[in-house]
Amino acid sequence: MKNNTSIKFDIVKSPTTKITSVDFENLTFGATFTDHMMICDYENGAWKTPEVKPYGPIELDPSAKVFHYAQAVFEGMKAFKDDHDKIWLFRPEDNFNRINISSKRMAIPEFPAEYFFPALEALLKLDQAWIKKGFGNALYLRPFVIATEPGVGASPSTKYKFMIICSPVKGYYDGEVRVKFSDKFSRAADGGVGFAKAAGNYGAQFYPTALANDEGYQQIVWTDAESHEYLEEAGTMNIFFRINDTLVTAPTSDRILDGITRKSLIALAGDFSIPVEVRRVSVAEIINAAKDGTLKEIFGSGTAAVITPIQGFGFKGEKYELPVLTDSYATFLKDKLMKIQYNLAEDKFGWRYEVK
Ligand code: COI
Repeated sequence: MKNNTSIKFDIVKSPTTKITSVDFENLTFGATFTDHMMICDYENGAWKTPEVKPYGPIELDPSAKVFHYAQAVFEGMKAFKDDHDKIWLFRPEDNFNRINISSKRMAIPEFPAEYFFPALEALLKLDQAWIKKGFGNALYLRPFVIATEPGVGASPSTKYKFMIICSPVKGYYDGEVRVKFSDKFSRAADGGVGFAKAAGNYGAQFYPTALANDEGYQQIVWTDAESHEYLEEAGTMNIFFRINDTLVTAPTSDRILDGITRKSLIALAGDFSIPVEVRRVSVAEIINAAKDGTLKEIFGSGTAAVITPIQGFGFKGEKYELPVLTDSYATFLKDKLMKIQYNLAEDKFGWRYEVK
């Protein structure tokens, strides 16, 4: 990522701020937004000049294709502030590359890096007071693209908006998380869009998740569409299992998101000589491991959730509880990862990027 200041873009500063009305100690994830946003239109085959301007509603025609055909993709990133008021991003190029991978799959034109990074940095500088210091505080950044061309003809839009909005956050989940291993619903199928952060992937999760909520689970673990025998992702997160002292996680594929936290944890685990196996994990293997006591931990990983330990799971009416450990990999790896994100530890992988 480069500090590229040669690109011209428009900045309109908000005359007022909402910040004084925000209770930063009691934030609901993704419910509060900063004073500014970034917006950039695509039309006539080109992205126009990006604008950073006061946060507010946008006007769309009711027939805009995003409403009818879900031509929309997004990213999740975070900005952190260290004790010296420096602002850091974590592996931002990976988010940028992934939104364009997602866009390509959804027939959305790719967004130029020379617009994305300077506009994001300008936005972060304007809203820097919203990034609170302290382990666990962050500014969640939501870049997204929507198809804005009016018309319900089922064809790709010729007009789009690329936007970035920012939300101060603390944790994603409050309290304990128990998951239901799905024996019916899948998140994605081969040849589909599971690898993309396509908005519809997430909307399609709400109904099965609500059914699992009714049974007392917080999330679903998606199984493969063909056999429902293999565990793929947990809710909006990638998933890791610790069997004895080895971490196991499913390989990325057409169906599984190439999570940035996921791959960071695999690298960190390797660095601390924690054995990791990237391979398919079956429901039967995990149930057997739970029964014979070799299943030590399950945790989800993602930008929003960082690492979320899972206390128990259910499958076909049977419930299983996980042990409470004093040497949890989830706790250990979360601490190592967050110390890199908050500039509290050496960044030997070169993941951190300072916004200057
Ligand atoms: C993220 O971790 O950024 C996600 O994509 C989760 C989001 C759907 C809340």
